[in-house]
Amino acid sequence: MKRKVTKAIFPVAGLGTRFLPATKSVPKEIMTLVDKPLIQYAIDEARAAGIKEFIFVTSRGKGALEDYFDEAPQLEQSLRKTGKDDLLETLQATNMESGAIAYIRQHKALGLGHAVWCARRLISNEPFAVILPDDVIAADKPCLQQMVEAYEEAPGCMVAAMEVPKEQASSYGVLDVKEDKGALVSLNGMVEKPKAGEAPSNLAVIGRYILTPDVLRNLNKKHVGTGGEIQLTDAIAAEIAEERPVHGFRFKGRRFDCGSKSGFLQATVSFGLERPELRDDLMGYIQNVVSQQKAAE
Ligand code: UTP
Repeated sequence: MKRKVTKAIFPVAGLGTRFLPATKSVPKEIMTLVDKPLIQYAIDEARAAGIKEFIFVTSRGKGALEDYFDEAPQLEQSLRKTGKDDLLETLQATNMESGAIAYIRQHKALGLGHAVWCARRLISNEPFAVILPDDVIAADKPCLQQMVEAYEEAPGCMVAAMEVPKEQASSYGVLDVKEDKGALVSLNGMVEKPKAGEAPSNLAVIGRYILTPDVLRNLNKKHVGTGGEIQLTDAIAAEIAEERPVHGFRFKGRRFDCGSKSGFLQATVSFGLERPELRDDLMGYIQNVVSQQKAAE
């Protein structure tokens, strides 16, 4: 019988160098879009998809991330006393069930594949999800939920996919498409960060995955790939080479690359405009700035 996806790995052990100096002391995943840290968006998405166990692969300096998930009884008490019920509700929505979170350390940033492999002992013989919190996806139905539903019809491995401009393909894992069936795409292979002009398509892998334990076995080989890192893309591509099913899944939604400054700023504006209490103010400000810039040109 096919197993349900109830565990998710959140690899958060990267160095976050693109956000230095902030990431000298603040984990990238704690940085906030409006008022919610990136990690909370990822957790909310995982919960909506039916995930019950949350496995964080962390590293030195990520203490604030672990603290974030502790309950805050004093704060809750003070909000209760002062009648700030909506804030209390917001705070309580972030509480996690005891034992639902596990932390594993990646001793050295050897790559995303290595980070996922570090969590191998917490995954038994079952499919699992991987969520990269710096890919934030705004969608009516959360992206991982879309994937879990599609997975019912297409078991094996599944990677979220999105069309990107050809000239940007070399920043991503790229799909070599065998058959394009619309939302689902079957594959001949996958290439991590292909050289300019060598990308097999413009369908790029985005940070949501449903994987089989076979991928962890492939990662056991510790094959070093592009950039001298142990790449998750290579371990998934090895599944295709073994003729086990791997699908790309074109999700519905808007993805923000919050690992980059520009993507993070775009997400901040976009999520700000979604908030009814901020929308008018923010829109007025943006219009003002744009017209001042135009006048100055
Ligand atoms: P990135 O490629 O964005 O790297 O990792 P990074 O270190 O976070 O950021 P920059 O490029 O230095 O600014 C993608 C995801 O994989 C995780 C990161 O934490 C992030 O969620 N990762 C990457 C690890 O957990 N371990 C690694 O060795 C590499």
